[in-house]
Amino acid sequence: MKLYLDTANIEEIREIAGWGVLDGVTTNPSLMAKEKGDYRKILKEICDIVKGPVSGEVISLKNEEMAKEARVLAALSEHVVIKIPCTVDGLKATKTLVKEGIKVNMTLVFSANQALLAARSGATYVSSFVGRLDDIGNPGVLVVKDILAVFKNYGFAAEVIFASVRHPEHVRQAALIGCHIATIPYKVFTQLIRHSLTDTGIDRFLKDWQTR
Ligand code: E4P
Repeated sequence: MKLYLDTANIEEIREIAGWGVLDGVTTNPSLMAKEKGDYRKILKEICDIVKGPVSGEVISLKNEEMAKEARVLAALSEHVVIKIPCTVDGLKATKTLVKEGIKVNMTLVFSANQALLAARSGATYVSSFVGRLDDIGNPGVLVVKDILAVFKNYGFAAEVIFASVRHPEHVRQAALIGCHIATIPYKVFTQLIRHSLTDTGIDRFLKDWQTR
């Protein structure tokens, strides 16, 4: 499973990129709003650090405006992927952008049917929001499982992103069901490496070594 970081914060991205396990980054308007400075410059800087797929989201809701915004963002770097919300206008914009060779990450996907449409429109990535479904008592992981089954049935090339990750258990679930990508907030990413038995194990080895 590929590991993406779900943030627009440059320090967080530098830190996790330094671990050597980072495949890409996803941002969204809420994450960008937390950062100071021109968002296009931020997106470009993220691309230069990650050198892998970096999703930047459009704000417009109409097909033609979405496509216009997308072209500006896509021109920033070969690594930019355009996040487009899963709506009728989003499908139309995706179709246009895909024809122009611009990669799309269809976002705010909450059902297998939405994912089916996203894949048919030519999106390269489909972001299924798990945590937000969990929040309303609808197990998000089951939706991702369905999406993966549908994509397998028809040999769709689109990759499924397990998004809206809230805790390490989500990452375990994503890996167990064979999801292609998980996009993980910084805090959860740092939790993945930690285990108290690893820490006590290191302590014990070092103490034993000193008795030699
Ligand atoms: C995915 O690409 C989104 O940016 C993100 O996972 C949304 O997560 P949230 O539900 O925690 O806002």
